[in-house]
Amino acid sequence: MSFYSYKDFIEEGDLVLAFISRGATKPINVTKGQVLNTRYGHFEHDKMIGMRYGSQMAGAKGHGFIHLLHPTPELWTLSLPHRTQIVYSPDSSYIIQRLRVGPGSRIIEAGTGSASFTHSFARTVAKQGRVFTYEFHEPRYLEAKKELEEHGLTENTMITHRDVCKNGFDIESIPEGFTQDGKLDGDIVFLDLPAPWEAIPHLKSVISSERQVGICCFSPCIEQVEKAVKALEDEGWTSIEMVEVAGKRWEARKDMVKDVGDVIKRLKDIQKRKSQGIEKLRNVNVGDKRNIDETSEEASTTETTPEPPKKVQNTGKSFNPFGKGIRVKEGDENFEWRDVTKVESEIKSHTSYLTFAYMNPNRIV
Ligand SMILES: C[S@@+](CC[C@H](N)C(=O)[O-])C[C@H]1O[C@@H](n2cnc3c(N)ncnc32)[C@H](O)[C@@H]1O
Repeated sequence: MSFYSYKDFIEEGDLVLAFISRGATKPINVTKGQVLNTRYGHFEHDKMIGMRYGSQMAGAKGHGFIHLLHPTPELWTLSLPHRTQIVYSPDSSYIIQRLRVGPGSRIIEAGTGSASFTHSFARTVAKQGRVFTYEFHEPRYLEAKKELEEHGLTENTMITHRDVCKNGFDIESIPEGFTQDGKLDGDIVFLDLPAPWEAIPHLKSVISSERQVGICCFSPCIEQVEKAVKALEDEGWTSIEMVEVAGKRWEARKDMVKDVGDVIKRLKDIQKRKSQGIEKLRNVNVGDKRNIDETSEEASTTETTPEPPKKVQNTGKSFNPFGKGIRVKEGDENFEWRDVTKVESEIKSHTSYLTFAYMNPNRIV
């Protein structure tokens, strides 16, 4: 199993991403004698061996199923053990295409965190490219190192335990095969750190002076963006631009067709409810200190079965019952509908601002 290429059949020791349901994908290392227990059934690892990646597997008792997926950086991002906030595919794919990362690119990344983006970089730069990733938190560094080794990514990826803000990016003994003319020679920089402006001045000695270098700083707060922009300007980076990737869900829905008569009926209905409410309040004994809630609470403890609250009757095809009226299922044949496209009104997915900039050849100041 490798993140660089696909294989067809699962073998013992392979990493399988068990797709259990939308939002639940579990990474498993196929090990003889072990069982994956889910609420949809039990799945024996022994039986996975020899199955084709991508196939559906039935539960041990014949009911329930999962899909056995081949790992990809995108699926790994959805299933990896979180040690930090991570970069998700909408951001990583945008950054990769905008900075034109491709086979042969030489990446400088800090911090590694949960190595979500490191996996994408490692796959994208392929075996001819290189990824230099840095993490200063020791347990996180060790976890990420182990994971990169287990996933066969150390062929092109090197992780360093380092505080890049204090000690920069220079590596004393770069292993054979990782240097370019004896240098680190990065052409893409990705900084996902709380203080990228402290790391930016250290980049001079490790980026290429012969090719254009692209950088992206990933920061959740606008104050961080301001400081990063200042540091980029001071260091001679150009074409500085900040963008935000905001995901919105578009849905195909049905919208009830209404005319002016419907609107009038709706307004009358609201008026009627208001008057009913006022009438109810009037009926409460003025001298009685108890509030309406207490009154209704007492009523509910009496022996007699309380009457269900009176519902406003659906007055027919042209009455729009949405809102506080009677609930009508979208598409109900008693009403007229048209097909529409709706978009979420709120964006719920802000992760970070992406600040891009470029260093042109021979511009390092
Ligand atoms: C948000 S996480 C990075 C997540 C990563 N991009 C991913 O997709 O999984 C930020 C990481 O940067 C590390 N970090 C913060 N300051 C650092 C520094 N000065 N040098 C190296 N690593 C640092 C933190 O320990 C943390 O693990």
